[in-house]
Amino acid sequence: MMKIGVDYYPEHWDISLWAADADLMQQTGVKLVRLAEFAWCRLEPQDGVFDFAWLDEAIDLFAERGIEVILCTPTSCPPMWLYEKHPDIVHVEKDGTPTNLGIRSHRCVTNPTFLHYADRITITMARHYADNPAVTGWQIDNELEAYFCYCEHCISKYRAWLQKKYGAIENLNKAYGNVVWSGEYSAWSQVKPPYGSLPHAWQNPAYMLDFYRFCSDNVIDFSERQAAQLREHCPGRPVTTNVWFCEHMPDFYKQFANLDFISYDNYPATRLPEDTESCYSHAFHLDMMRGVKRRPFWIMEQLSGGKGCWAPMEKPPLPGMIKGYALQAFAHGADTVVHFRWRTSNIGAEMHWHGLLDHSNVPGRRFHEFADLCKMANQLEKWQGSEIRADVAILFSFDNEYAFKIQPQTEGYYYLEQLQRLHRAFTALGLNVDIIGQHEKLDGYKIVCAPEMYVHGDGVAERLEDFARQGGTVILTTRSGVKDAHNNTVMAQLPGIYREMTGVHVVEYAPIGWESVPVIFEDGKELNVKQWCDILEADTAQVLARYNGDYFAGAVAITCNAYGKGQVYYIGAVGTQSLYDRMARMTTEEAALPVVFDLPERVEMVTRTRDDEQARFVFNNDDKPKAFQLDGREIRLAPFEMRVIETNY
Ligand code: GAL
Repeated sequence: MMKIGVDYYPEHWDISLWAADADLMQQTGVKLVRLAEFAWCRLEPQDGVFDFAWLDEAIDLFAERGIEVILCTPTSCPPMWLYEKHPDIVHVEKDGTPTNLGIRSHRCVTNPTFLHYADRITITMARHYADNPAVTGWQIDNELEAYFCYCEHCISKYRAWLQKKYGAIENLNKAYGNVVWSGEYSAWSQVKPPYGSLPHAWQNPAYMLDFYRFCSDNVIDFSERQAAQLREHCPGRPVTTNVWFCEHMPDFYKQFANLDFISYDNYPATRLPEDTESCYSHAFHLDMMRGVKRRPFWIMEQLSGGKGCWAPMEKPPLPGMIKGYALQAFAHGADTVVHFRWRTSNIGAEMHWHGLLDHSNVPGRRFHEFADLCKMANQLEKWQGSEIRADVAILFSFDNEYAFKIQPQTEGYYYLEQLQRLHRAFTALGLNVDIIGQHEKLDGYKIVCAPEMYVHGDGVAERLEDFARQGGTVILTTRSGVKDAHNNTVMAQLPGIYREMTGVHVVEYAPIGWESVPVIFEDGKELNVKQWCDILEADTAQVLARYNGDYFAGAVAITCNAYGKGQVYYIGAVGTQSLYDRMARMTTEEAALPVVFDLPERVEMVTRTRDDEQARFVFNNDDKPKAFQLDGREIRLAPFEMRVIETNY
């Protein structure tokens, strides 16, 4: 069922408000509440003294009204008595000092004392709620990040992780090329995390990539530990954790491999960019979340009001956004959307992060729109379980995400940008697009975009070759084949392992940062590229475009190589949106994909299929109305309106 829920913090409100809140939720059509996140100080007010009575009471109120509960383990916020008793459980900063108290998530998830207490509260809660049918699922902690912690426990675990991977210290020295700057270790005790205030780009990139990987694995250990405890002591309930696109993202593919579903915190911007070039749509994030487990996902926190708190307050969601952005998530594969939060807090650090209800508790414009959303979600139930079949896939890799962060390539170069532009180019043609891990099989796709295949991934090049040989279209881009699996550069003309399939090689590259250079296509059409220019020579590929400026004017920029029964494109520069739009049109036409050519700017479409029924979810992601023709019908959309158009096929 497509469900709408809310995040609710009973411990923030006087108990006299709870029943009225639950009544209003029920009347509005809320089906689910998320509770207990951050509430450790109320669940265990003293060491070993537990109090679940208040939470039981809140859960009962919801259960009586047919609202199910997802509970969170509160381990993101240890109580003050625990910090006082064990000050060493805090996270240690890169200058070696412990993080200050007063904010959240400042505990170290490796610290054995912390783990003892985290295990105890998790297991005690799990046992307490094992027989309560109103509790239908668990969220582990909150927004677990692959933080860098510099405490002694993390350092020992990091060394053990390296020992397991490399065996002998000589192997580690070799893998990292530690001879540079006399960095060779003669004992494991010399291995330290990257301390200090200098940017990480000063560090050895091979060492840094392993450190990122370790931090990710480390937080995943913590989440798996809790998942195992929840499953053992509260069996039969699905377990997840909520993620977002943060600075230190764990590897979601590994993180969710053993969790039941992925949940994402979705806060689209409320201010639309003026220029039409910007990739601001959260459709990219949503497709990426669907791709993590290649299954429906949840939104665990959904935009409900103006953002604020640690930054000045922003404009509230424009009329239509509350409903539109939740429905956009449904269209892209969410089956549950939980709004953050029911009511804006009157207390604490987040009092300026607005919920559905304002501080006054008087339902206003946003709340009424939310009520409408709840009604509409019921009407969409028939599409629950329908499939989003995609002919186009974009490959993503966390190694690349980390490696590009570690070594900025040139000014303005950002790993996700080319992925987002390719995504936008194909979705603008009305196509469903999957964003999947580069380890996935490619069967069933017609076009696979493999942008910036920078760090070597096991078997990816072979899978792409097979895919092309069997008739698929591959799009590779600049910065591919550059690094081995250790994040050292390879001694080969780029694109290295992709050279044969692309039929080109890079004779020189020019990182041009914010400068721009025109490229000219065979038909005379000129477009500007920026940031990066691979100066190419074709081996077997056909030339599609050449540079038309700078010292490399006339050199090859974009190519297409016939490979087996398929083709492999190589885009040797970073383009603006129009370049990717052009490539998407060219490749979809060749692959004879069923594109829609005249979707207006900022109108998005997802097609969902079940048996012999199909629906187009058409969404106007703009503050201006739109009118256009689709499948021979005139469609008019209000700002941020989602329309579901059913078709038989
Ligand atoms: C999320 C977090 C929530 C809340 C929200 C808005 O990142 O999980 O607890 O802080 O942001 O501030």
